Amino acid sequence: MQEKLLKIKKEALEKLSNANSKEVLEEIRVGYLGKKGELTLQLKSLGALEVEERKEVGKKANEIRNMIEAEISKKQEELKTIEIENKIKSEKIDISMSKSNIQAYGHKHPLSIVFDEVKEIFIGMGYSIAEGPEVEFANLNFDALNTPKDHPSRDSQDTFYITDDIILRSQTSPVQARTMMQQKPPIKIIAPGRVYRSDTADATHSPMFHQIEGLVVDKHISMADLKGTLEMFSKKMFGPETKIKLRPHHFPFTEPSCEVDVSCFMCGGKGCRVCKGEGWIEILGAGMVHPNVLSYSGIDKEEYQGFAFGVGVERIAMIKYGISDMRYLYENDQRFLNEF
Ligand code: PHE
Repeated sequence: MQEKLLKIKKEALEKLSNANSKEVLEEIRVGYLGKKGELTLQLKSLGALEVEERKEVGKKANEIRNMIEAEISKKQEELKTIEIENKIKSEKIDISMSKSNIQAYGHKHPLSIVFDEVKEIFIGMGYSIAEGPEVEFANLNFDALNTPKDHPSRDSQDTFYITDDIILRSQTSPVQARTMMQQKPPIKIIAPGRVYRSDTADATHSPMFHQIEGLVVDKHISMADLKGTLEMFSKKMFGPETKIKLRPHHFPFTEPSCEVDVSCFMCGGKGCRVCKGEGWIEILGAGMVHPNVLSYSGIDKEEYQGFAFGVGVERIAMIKYGISDMRYLYENDQRFLNEF
């Protein structure tokens, strides 16, 4: 009888390992453990044995039954998992849409294209991006930047006042002051954003436009660093042949100050329609950070120097793309935007 049991065990386990459906599994269960199952019959016939043998064989038979039962439930779990997996596979939904249904693609606005290009150039030179609010304290827009109370830019004809102390920033330069108050040198940032001036819109003016401020503060910074930086920027922006020219200028917050021209990318400097016959195009204002500006923001003016610059984003876009009227940039006319 022992032999018979071992044979049952071997066969059952073999069948179970090959079972590949719930039905087959059930068949095996009934075939061995059901009322008339092979193992059940063996258990029933135990009564015919001697007490000692009955005990021993009974124990063995029960072990085998437990083993088969355990194997069946293990196999059940396995089959369930496979079933779920198959279900997931067969029910997968294709969420892609065929390309032909798309009528028109959107794209970046020309100002965003220029913003991204300028940012990329300066990030490539190790600058990080700083931000400041468009609604700004008058003292950060002016006093922190060494601009006296009677300076014409502080006039309400030039700047939008919300209260006596709060304005719409007229330049991105207050971000210089904010950054110097928050960070210790070395500082190397650009600050892109909107600025506001009380101007009437025409071909070259708008009450709202965009600037990118640059600020570097460290030990041993000189005008040569400024020039090298702007030269690199101009070549990357307008092409490797581009030359730059620094003209003396005045800003209250830089000393010395300059305006920077680039050689006309269209005619290479000979003079044409784009540069209005000049050969040069003005693109930005810059200079060495005024010692008063460093001191106002808590930076030791004996130990540190810096340079700063402010680029007009509309100006760059107009030059680069030959846009004749600044107002096109804000009208969202698809006929204009589709050119980019
Ligand atoms: N803030 C100046 C402007 O709006 C530009 C500038 C920035 C000049 C930084 C010098 C240094 O015209």
